[in-house]
Amino acid sequence: MTRDERSREDERIRREFPLIWQHPEIAYLDNSATTQKPACVIESLKGYYEESNANPLRGLYELSMKATDAYEDAREAVRAFLGAESTEEIIFTRNASESLNLVAFSGSEAFLNPGDEILITIMEHHSNLIPWQEAAKRRGAALRFLEPDEEGKISEERFCSELTERTRIVAMTQISNVLGVKHDIRRLAELAHERNIIFVADGAQSVPHIPVNVQELGVDFFAFSGHKMLAPMGIGVLYGKRELLQEMPPFLFGGEMIEYVSRETATWAELPHKFEAGTVNAGGAVGLGAAIEYYNRIGWNVILEREAHLSRLAMEKLSAIPHLRLLGPKKAEEHHGIFTFTIDGVHPHDIAAILDAKGVNVRAGHHCAQPLMQFMGTPSTTRASLAFYNTEDEVQRLAESLAGVRAEMGYRD
Ligand SMILES: Cc1ncc(COP(=O)(O)O)c(C=O)c1O
Repeated sequence: MTRDERSREDERIRREFPLIWQHPEIAYLDNSATTQKPACVIESLKGYYEESNANPLRGLYELSMKATDAYEDAREAVRAFLGAESTEEIIFTRNASESLNLVAFSGSEAFLNPGDEILITIMEHHSNLIPWQEAAKRRGAALRFLEPDEEGKISEERFCSELTERTRIVAMTQISNVLGVKHDIRRLAELAHERNIIFVADGAQSVPHIPVNVQELGVDFFAFSGHKMLAPMGIGVLYGKRELLQEMPPFLFGGEMIEYVSRETATWAELPHKFEAGTVNAGGAVGLGAAIEYYNRIGWNVILEREAHLSRLAMEKLSAIPHLRLLGPKKAEEHHGIFTFTIDGVHPHDIAAILDAKGVNVRAGHHCAQPLMQFMGTPSTTRASLAFYNTEDEVQRLAESLAGVRAEMGYRD
């Protein structure tokens, strides 16, 4: 692609994101935390509340049915996006954290016995760690940790060596929110299934960056958040295989998740409603549907090409900065747009503040992955994370700002 073609494509895409378009002074590079929203997503929310708003799944009047249709159409859009077999397998939640809590709580009630083991990796986001810690405590099970090599990779041998006769559940991220490394979830799920182990994948960082097909991956559960893939905050998804979801007790109790209630007891609604207690976030679901439509319109070929190009540039520029140490894979294409680093002698909070003064937005801290930080021997790091709407110019601004950080802190080299 020529420079002109790329800048025309940049403009075409960035015009669709009002915040980015109206604020060229900001280089937004915290996309792993949350993404910016295209106008079509913002408009879809407005459209839902102006045209279709009523309490879905409840009223028998036309407007409520319209709201129900909008909500269920969004569920079908998610089903197709993930390649799931049935909409019964798509549960709307608030975010990936709630999806993982749901599977850890209800799944452990159904499938975990005292003495069993849960295997996770040391690089899990706290949202895919604490729910399992708590499940293990509640069920008298043990929580074990897989440790990667120095690039963050987990080989098949390493994986298998941690599986024991007692392993009942494996829960791990597809792409690390700190290292950007992608695990071969399809193969690891296959190895787990050969041993009758349930496989839970955290897709919070993968769904925004790579096409996912849950049936091809063969995972039993898959969790993600809408807000990290252009959709509004407050809507997330748990995919689960129907047979497993059917065996699990509800996670939350109340309206809409029941079939029949007496003074003493209750029976549960069919899937997926059994896991969706109370009034749902229909507007959020509609927004997620619009985000999926946007992904389909722009196309994975464009997204993958742009992110790979920006990742190569980021790797080249950041690797050339003295005293900057990049964590994770050595190859740019293995970072999936996530670049986490330290700069000798400078606290990550100072780095983020210096960059912020130049309009460059990055994240500093433990990235909700404290055990990984302990494993790597650093309490905190700085992370720049890219999305397809970022530009070469923004990566250049990041690199130039980082190159000046030590001087601003008074170092002479
Ligand atoms: C890998 C991973 N899992 C889970 C989460 C939790 O997502 P949320 O805060 O949207 O629930 C995050 C958020 O950064 C993440 O990066």
